[in-house]
Amino acid sequence: MTSITLRRPDDMHLHLRDGAMLAAVLPETARHFARALVMPNLVPPVVTAREAAAYRDRIRAALPEGMAFDPLMTLYLTETTDPADVAAAAASGLVTAVKLYPAGATTNSQSGVRDFARVQGVLDRMAEIGLPLCVHGEVTDPDIDIFDREAVFIDRVLDPLRRRTPGLRVVMEHITTRDAVDYARSAGPDLGATITTHHLILNRNHILAGAIRPHYYCLPVAKRERHRLALREAATSGEARFFLGTDSAPHPDARKEQACGCAGCFTATNTMPILAHVFEEMCAMDRLEGFVALHGAAFYGLAANQARLSLSKRATAAAWPEKILGGAGSVTVFNPGFPVYWHVDD
Ligand code: DOR
Ligand code: ZN
Repeated sequence: MTSITLRRPDDMHLHLRDGAMLAAVLPETARHFARALVMPNLVPPVVTAREAAAYRDRIRAALPEGMAFDPLMTLYLTETTDPADVAAAAASGLVTAVKLYPAGATTNSQSGVRDFARVQGVLDRMAEIGLPLCVHGEVTDPDIDIFDREAVFIDRVLDPLRRRTPGLRVVMEHITTRDAVDYARSAGPDLGATITTHHLILNRNHILAGAIRPHYYCLPVAKRERHRLALREAATSGEARFFLGTDSAPHPDARKEQACGCAGCFTATNTMPILAHVFEEMCAMDRLEGFVALHGAAFYGLAANQARLSLSKRATAAAWPEKILGGAGSVTVFNPGFPVYWHVDD
């Protein structure tokens, strides 16, 4: 196969930031994606419906002329989130999901949840109205090894939370382990799971063997090779529970390349060529459209996009800028570490 035409994809987990960074990175996503579920971990976070509406306005205002892109908004769950505000934001169509960060789990998660009992009222309301909860699934207990934090979260937090909140629709975000793949498969259609581009490419050796590579550091951190293989199998399985959420997360290079570097891989620019490469390797090109454009939309109850995106395989490797430049400082584009011959057609 040397070319493929898909429905225009959706990125069901994206960090756009704000201000100069938003302006720099938004075109990278809008060039290929029709919609994205926009994460709310700004400083301060997007907690209320009013804040989500204002953030959506800033995103729309930052979109260059002639580009079409629909931001799907999320609210950042805090222990003081008002169930009525969430319900009103959902009813008006303003928000598509609520994001749960365990406090301290990742970038800008300080306002997240410490005591899960304090958000039960919001979760019950969300179950009632069918509003999905997107979960950053890592425990933050310093006694738990960082490579075990996802698997432990499933047992200690996620499974109990789902049992005490029947009917709650949950997305396990950016899964990184075979344990998460297995758990997602053990559940019914109330549970989905996003998989990033970079977790299909990286194992922990890529980050640490021979040298430390800060641009491959993200959270949840990439795991052993057997987990990467499980993710590739899941993403290309054709199962509707698995869909793309890139977690593309821009940080200025100066904040990545320092003694205490931030977590995040920036994959908005080259996700589509890289995914075509992976799906071809897995003999699953016929399942790429489901992963990027159908399963996520169906989970969120959205119509699939009408517009199309075409990719073709060429003799020369695809080229993309090494860095995105903007007022917020340069952002390094994810380097898969091998040539990619799939190009997005203009
Ligand atoms: O690597 C990550 N970066 N993981 C997250 O969960 C957050 C994200 C960010 O916002 O930078
Ligand atoms: Zn994220």
